[in-house]
Amino acid sequence: MTKPKLFISRELFPDVIEKLMQYFEVEVWDRFQAPPYEVLLEKARVVDALVTLLTDRIDCNLLSQAKNLRIVAQLAVGYDNIDVECATRLGIYVTNTPGVLTEATAELTWALILSVARRIVEADHYVRWGEWYRTKTGWHPLMMLGVELKGKTLGIIGLGRIGRRVAEIGKAFGMKIMYYDRSRDEEAEKILGAEYRSLDEVLSESDIVSIHVPLTKETYHMINEEKLKRMKRTALLINTARGAVIDTDALVKALKEGWIAGAGLDVFEEEPLPPNHPLTAFKNVVLLPHIGSATIETRHAMAELVAENLIAFYQGREPPTLVNK
Ligand code: DGY
Repeated sequence: MTKPKLFISRELFPDVIEKLMQYFEVEVWDRFQAPPYEVLLEKARVVDALVTLLTDRIDCNLLSQAKNLRIVAQLAVGYDNIDVECATRLGIYVTNTPGVLTEATAELTWALILSVARRIVEADHYVRWGEWYRTKTGWHPLMMLGVELKGKTLGIIGLGRIGRRVAEIGKAFGMKIMYYDRSRDEEAEKILGAEYRSLDEVLSESDIVSIHVPLTKETYHMINEEKLKRMKRTALLINTARGAVIDTDALVKALKEGWIAGAGLDVFEEEPLPPNHPLTAFKNVVLLPHIGSATIETRHAMAELVAENLIAFYQGREPPTLVNK
């Protein structure tokens, strides 16, 4: 029996590829850079299954030319790069990898919060590039002062799995938790003592605002100039969700004009972020290259879940994390 064809748009862990080879005729794009759209299109036209990353544009043009394609298995929880509505219309399954990256992403969110609050990157540069030595400062009572978290308010925008885990850790830091979401989570309110508020209230009352919503038509530029102006001048803005939830130009303006005190960003409207981007000029901003889920454990679990989805599809079962039921 001929095996269905599978194109994987970037290298995965070898044990997962080997597992998939038992069921599929597998082709892997083995370059570090994403395959160009034309390559994706060419592959989509001939395969039965695709493994995609958030950098692969899977639009309706591509999907409608993919005559044999039955499943797009995304290696990410977010799938804003895929036209799911179109896939559903064409009877193509779309799957993602929720759950397995909650801890890694929540931990990275905290790494950013602490880095910005305690000026970790700035302080590292101060030592590394010799400024501490040159200035002969030694220990000074006013050197590199940051802010403490205990007793402060953590505002979570989007109380899904990751937002909730970030809130739990915030509670352990002795923070007051406030959240905005499309719907209330009364259980979380009980367990975390979290307060449900409007978006504007969360923005204006929080000391740290952390974004955990998916990118959709509704959340695109949800944090714009008007919203940034509502934040405290001492507040820090953290984003480990999707870059386009924040209007980048507005954020640059907010940082320049001191509407907020700093930001920690793992995601950007333009990825990779160009080295001369205005955001790179601010000392009070920590920038990371979209590594929220980048731990060995999590990336392996994500790849395993992609394989589970594909194998379930191959065996005629419903993929466990199907997006378009
Ligand atoms: C996701 O899963 O959507 C992250 O952005 C990458 O892990």
